[in-house]
Amino acid sequence: MTFFHGEYEIDEDRSRVDLDWVHGLLAKQWWCPGIDRDVVERAVCGASLVVGAYFQGRQVGFLRVVSDRATFGWFSDVIVDETHRGKGIAKALVLYALKHPEHQGFRRWVLMTRDKHAIYEGCGFAVVERPYDWMELQPQGKHY
Ligand SMILES: CC(C)(COP(=O)(O)OP(=O)(O)OC[C@H]1O[C@@H](n2cnc3c(N)ncnc32)[C@H](O)[C@@H]1OP(=O)(O)O)[C@@H](O)C(=O)NCCC(=O)NCCS
Repeated sequence: MTFFHGEYEIDEDRSRVDLDWVHGLLAKQWWCPGIDRDVVERAVCGASLVVGAYFQGRQVGFLRVVSDRATFGWFSDVIVDETHRGKGIAKALVLYALKHPEHQGFRRWVLMTRDKHAIYEGCGFAVVERPYDWMELQPQGKHY
């Protein structure tokens, strides 16, 4: 399934993912500073869906989804190239995944964000109403 967002090609072909680009940008993010390339590679391979944005054949956006393709989905690692931000690419990537035929009828989508709520609010997300219902385990110690 390929979709065009203006000049940007959005698709889910895992073999197109530029691991060096994804790793380079992810390693600078607050949720996975300095992440190893082999961990990124495993995360890309193990995701249930990866969505990329491409400009003139070059990767400029990425996200991945972890889901059971029946009830639940989690968005992770939403990144857009610095020179292509503010053009709706992140939102287009999220909407592509939400509308995906394998993602219909879910009970819940979740994600974590520190300060980018606007992107997800624009796609229908809201802050959790009952944080006490949620639990987490960070086996490597709390780092965010
Ligand atoms: C956050 C990021 C993915 C946004 O990508 P983008 O393609 O520029 O975002 P979009 O153009 O699709 O913006 C969608 C909406 O989010 C808002 N938004 C975009 N960047 C934002 C930012 N830095 N802070 C707050 N809101 C932001 C936009 O105003 C827009 O709102 P609108 O639809 O009402 O106009 C990109 O800046 C990035 O890669 N940042 C570093 C990694 C990161 O923080 N990822 C998100 C983790 S939750």
